[in-house]
Amino acid sequence: MVSELGGRPVTARQWELQAADEWLAYRRDTNSDSAHFCEAVTRLIVRAVGENVGAAKRVIAQLGLTLSRCDELDFKEFDQTLAYALWHEVDRYHRVTQALDMLFERGALPIAKPARRLQMLEVGSGPAPAGYATVDYFAALGAWTQRQTAGFHSSDSVEVHTLDRGPAWRQMIHRLSEELLLVARSGAERPYVRRDRFFDVTYNDLRGFNPRELHNQTRDRHLDRMLESTWAEDGDGFVDFDAWFAVSDRQVAKALAAKAAPPSAYDLIVVANFITNEEMLQMLKPDVEVLARSLVPGGVLLILSAPGAKYTQIWEHIRELARRARLEQVVDEVVGAHREPATHALVASATINALRHLERLVPNAWTAAELPDAVRAEVVSALSVPASAPIEEAAARFGPYPHFQVHAFKRGHRAISLKERKRFSLRKATQR
Ligand SMILES: C[S@@+](CC[C@H](N)C(=O)[O-])C[C@H]1O[C@@H](n2cnc3c(N)ncnc32)[C@H](O)[C@@H]1O
Repeated sequence: MVSELGGRPVTARQWELQAADEWLAYRRDTNSDSAHFCEAVTRLIVRAVGENVGAAKRVIAQLGLTLSRCDELDFKEFDQTLAYALWHEVDRYHRVTQALDMLFERGALPIAKPARRLQMLEVGSGPAPAGYATVDYFAALGAWTQRQTAGFHSSDSVEVHTLDRGPAWRQMIHRLSEELLLVARSGAERPYVRRDRFFDVTYNDLRGFNPRELHNQTRDRHLDRMLESTWAEDGDGFVDFDAWFAVSDRQVAKALAAKAAPPSAYDLIVVANFITNEEMLQMLKPDVEVLARSLVPGGVLLILSAPGAKYTQIWEHIRELARRARLEQVVDEVVGAHREPATHALVASATINALRHLERLVPNAWTAAELPDAVRAEVVSALSVPASAPIEEAAARFGPYPHFQVHAFKRGHRAISLKERKRFSLRKATQR
């Protein structure tokens, strides 16, 4: 993508590098979205449990498992997804926002033109923290760039596709998106309108998932349906005008059918806290390879995980897969989560507010809950702060959040074949 800055053409990369400081300062100053998101997550948990002591006990029973053994869980029960969301949803939303900032700072954030929606896929999505974070990020970025007289104008719209095999995530995403709509309606007016809510899990299993095949199959089905009636009339062997029109309109029909089909490639694919052991990687290797080849030019595969020697082997394999797909590694960094005190307070408060509701229904449940000792101590300490005190006081009882590792691989020029380049320039020429 090329635009102009001071009369000179600049690429998206150059623009991001130049605009990064200004954009990041603006985003941090005016970011009311994350507060809305936290509120919606707490409201969802509080409302789902209601005044039901049995429901509260069921969620409490899942708190230990969802904290330390979540890669072994099947997420068939809604209570399990609620416990997961209580610890992780707001935390992961902010980690993804941090990672998107890192991409911008390095000139590697994928940008779509305002007329197009950025296509995003979240793999092993769970409660879709990356999807929600990306929608909010681009809504703000799009609105900010619209106000700039020079430089890039970015799309403010993201189409989110989620992929997860846990059956209860569907209900979680639906209810969370509803809460977000309610929070947006009741809150103060915002400088931009969010249009991109999603309410479902789009795909279920990563094994065998192939966006290009899905795209082609759906496109061909649409095409057959569009041309069906004409072919039926055409069966008598006579040359008739319908058949002639069908052939000449085939290109148009094909373009329409391709538009109606799901994307064959994405601008952004996020895989967060998903591939956590060697065995899982071996099983999913061909599918991860497909993901690495399912990016549009300029698209990014963003992978977030815990850091540490335990994962070194896994990362070697993933780097190799990315190399084979000719992707360029643009980020490889370990960062501290929520280092800014305001973000730490926001993330911790969301968990504490939900815990307070459970504590009211089941007093002192934490002594029996299977939590790691350090976590139990923080929970008990935070809950001992009276609700009448500022929430920051309780949040300060939670220690710093752990570091996490950000890997990003970009599909740059190296990964675009000559044949593809010809196809793009042909498409551009016909769009003019
Ligand atoms: C630890 S959760 C991560 C959720 C979310 N990405 C986050 O960062 O909070 C891992 C998710 O991967 C899903 N999962 C595991 N294997 C899968 C597979 N083969 N296909 C699709 N989803 C899978 C699980 O159901 C679970 O929801």
